[in-house]
Amino acid sequence: MTPFPRALSATFLSATLALGAGAALAAVNAKSVTESRQANFKTMGRSMKAMTDGLKTGSPDMTAIAANAATLRGLAPKISTWFPKGTGPESGVKTEALAEIWKDPAGFAAAARRLESEAAKLEALARAGDVAGARAQVRLVGGSCGGCHDKYKAD
Ligand code: HEC
Repeated sequence: MTPFPRALSATFLSATLALGAGAALAAVNAKSVTESRQANFKTMGRSMKAMTDGLKTGSPDMTAIAANAATLRGLAPKISTWFPKGTGPESGVKTEALAEIWKDPAGFAAAARRLESEAAKLEALARAGDVAGARAQVRLVGGSCGGCHDKYKAD
């Protein structure tokens, strides 16, 4: 037997086990998925704060700004994968995710792409040492966070 069919049957087996274990397993998954995405958003919040605080100073550490912008640019394309079906408000887990995320996945993905492109621009400005440009751009990055939160996150 080649490894490929073996991998396939392992997939079938775990799918069957998951179905058998039923709602309890789904609940556990919703909790861990929700907690890990919230931890990722906290990381994004820390990067954002480090950049806004840094850019308020007289001579910002542009290497640090670039690194934090890169963190946001790297996480943004993953955001949609942090919201599998069943991890919304119906899960019973404490979450600020609104049901709108699953009703409008294209809009949600577009909001994440907006963050990715604004963060990439900030990263480039920071690498170029353009302090004034970075100060203006960090507002657009913040706007892209808020743009998604307004529509898809509870207050
Ligand atoms: C594409 C949509 C989207 C974008 C873009 C986005 N967020 Fe969020 N954010 C959410 C959603 C949805 C939640 C709620 C998650 C939950 O509670 O399950 C959230 C939650 C958070 C939280 C609270 C985490 C916690 O539970 O403690 C912070 C902080 C946060 N986001 C910061 C940011 C920052 C900073 C940015 C921009 C750099 C950003 N977010 C961009 C959708 C987004």
